[in-house]
Amino acid sequence: MVTLIIDGREFKAEKGQTILQVARENGIDIPTLCHHEAIEPYGACRLCIVEISKGKRTRIVTSCLYPVEEGLKVKTDSPRVMSNRKMIAELLLARCSKNKVIQELASQIGIEQPSFKSEYLEDNDCIVCGLCVRACEQVVGVSAISLVNRGITKEPASPFLEPAEACIGCGSCYYICPTGAIKMEDRKDTRIIYNWKVEFKLKKCKVCGNYWAPEKQLEYIRQKWNLPGDFFDVCPTCK
Ligand code: SF4
Ligand code: FES
Repeated sequence: MVTLIIDGREFKAEKGQTILQVARENGIDIPTLCHHEAIEPYGACRLCIVEISKGKRTRIVTSCLYPVEEGLKVKTDSPRVMSNRKMIAELLLARCSKNKVIQELASQIGIEQPSFKSEYLEDNDCIVCGLCVRACEQVVGVSAISLVNRGITKEPASPFLEPAEACIGCGSCYYICPTGAIKMEDRKDTRIIYNWKVEFKLKKCKVCGNYWAPEKQLEYIRQKWNLPGDFFDVCPTCK
């Protein structure tokens, strides 16, 4: 166990925990966009910055990546943190000026309009947090998409921008995306994920007749867990 101070209060934490984990466990709010408990942290959005000090030295770190240390002092809303966080919110808003999630988050941080707009930045819903890519790789285990390009053109994409062959249509990317940048639709017996240019036939339940999950996803799970051939003939509600 280690002892640390967050915003003037003393806490005990397990070695290996991050500042963000300890803060959240203790009801201290730190804004995040690229963080999910089930997925390795990546430090993309930088909203979770905090100011730490050890002895006389203070610096800004991303709390989702920084492990707690004995005697660490953390400030989650110091003037330096707030001014940096405002700049980050402005950058996000400059990139995604029409996105409701980003607008609301920026407004909570005190930014209504970015003070600049780059002519090179196209309006976008994607903040390039990589959560969709990391979920596909770390949770689903298929790595159907990746982050491509560099700098302001960096984006999640299917290989060579062709239909993502490895995609099983589970929609994890869609559900985890913090900004709604991934467009997915179930149209009767077909699921479409527009971003990865893929379509999947949905399985029909033998009892209620509802279409309930992509056949490719169910076959992937069936083979992975060595389940009987008819295991997914009936949907979870009718089982
Ligand atoms: S599509 Fe969504 S989850 Fe994927 S990188 Fe963009 S914002 Fe993040
Ligand atoms: S939550 Fe830490 S950088 Fe995004």
